[in-house]
Parts: sequence; C-alpha cells; structure tokens
Amino acid sequence: MRRNAVFVVAVTCALLALVTWNRGRGSSGLGASLAAEKADGALKESVANLQGEVNALRKLVPEQSVAMLAVAQQFTNLWSAAKTKNWPLAQFFVEETEEGIEWAVRIQPVRREPPADEVNLAAIYDSLSVSVFPELKASIAAHDSDRFARAYQNTLQGCYACHKAIGKQYLRPKVPADLATPVLNFDPQATWPQ
Ligand code: HEC
Repeated sequence: MRRNAVFVVAVTCALLALVTWNRGRGSSGLGASLAAEKADGALKESVANLQGEVNALRKLVPEQSVAMLAVAQQFTNLWSAAKTKNWPLAQFFVEETEEGIEWAVRIQPVRREPPADEVNLAAIYDSLSVSVFPELKASIAAHDSDRFARAYQNTLQGCYACHKAIGKQYLRPKVPADLATPVLNFDPQATWPQ
C-alpha cells in the first residue's frame, strides 16, 4: 500500500518537472515554427496522460484510517510482546508503530476541519517522536517492564492528543486487556515452528 503513495509522489514530480521544462522553453526563441508546435502538442498530450495517471493513482492511496488501524494493531502487539518480556519482538513492534504513524501522516499531513481550522499532523507526530517514543524504546532496550508500562501509557496520551486535535475525542485509546493477535506466538521460549 505504501508503494502507491510513493508512485503518486513520483508521478506528480515528473508532471511538475515537465511543466517547468515547458515554461523554461517559452523564451528559447523556437517561436511558432511547425516543429515547435508539434513538440508542444506532444508535450500537452503527455502532461494530460500523466495527469490522468496521477488521478488514477490517487484513488489507490488508502484512507488515513486504514494506516491507523495498522498502528492500532502494532501498538497492541507491542503491549503483548513487552508483557511476555519478548523484547526483540517489542523492539520490532515499536518500530512498526512509528512507521505506521509516519505512513498515516504522509497520507494527509494537514487536516482541515473543526475544532481548529488546520491541524498539522506532521508537527504533532514530530513532537511525539522526540518525546514519548525515545523513552518507550529506551525502556525496551533496558528490558524494564515497569518503565515500559509507564512509557506505554504516556505514548497513549500522545496518541489521544492527536485524536483530540482532529476533533475525534471518541477515539480514546487504552492499555490492551489481553494478549493480542492469536496467530502470533508471544512466548519468547516458543520452539514451534522451527
Ligand atoms: C499525528 C496524529 C495521530 C497520532 C499520533 C495517532 N493517531 Fe490514531 N488517528 C489519527 C487519524 C488522523 C485517524 C483517522 C481519523 C479518521 O478516520 O478520520 C486516527 C484513527 C485512529 C484509530 C481508528 C481507526 C479506524 O478508523 O478504525 C485508532 C484505533 C487509532 N487512531 C489508534 C492510534 C494509536 C494506538 C496511536 C498511538 C500509538 C495513534 N492512533 C496515534 C491520527 C493520529
């Protein structure tokens, strides 16, 4: 899914480059010669084609809430991994969580809706990535369950701060009650499958 967003950005850049190149050519003195007209026609056609492709690709980019569902899953798994003291798995899921939020933010970095006219999600995430996330990772590196539990709750407050900023107070996270994702084995001593 992430690749779709990358394609859209790449095609948009190509489009911009073409338009800029075309503008630059205006002063090159080719004038209204037949060759120039033909080239301009071909250029307009490729711009139109690219625009069509950009529009088609835009429709493939998932909603921000899809990325957030992945974050919710990863952050729940993080809790389970730390609870079973499976620290390498916890390390994996904290990184996945960060990447998931980054992905969500890339899909729509700024939201325009009440209560604020404009909410800069990228700025909110930037502040979390230098405040709560480093402590969360440090607690995992230290294999310290109590420190982890505190850091996890602080991070949940960070999650909620962003949800409140976009006017969705009802998206209130909590510490998961049970171990998550039955298909993943959280037991660090597990021996199957080999
Ligand atoms: C930078 C802002 C931001 C941060 C940080 C953030 N979220 Fe979200 N979250 C959103 C946005 C935006 C939505 C989508 C709201 C919508 O669909 O309009 C959302 C939606 C959700 C949803 C509902 C998904 C659905 O549609 O079913 C869950 C669950 C969620 N977030 C969990 C979390 C968790 C857990 C964290 C912290 C680890 C977190 N979020 C951190 C912005 C954020």
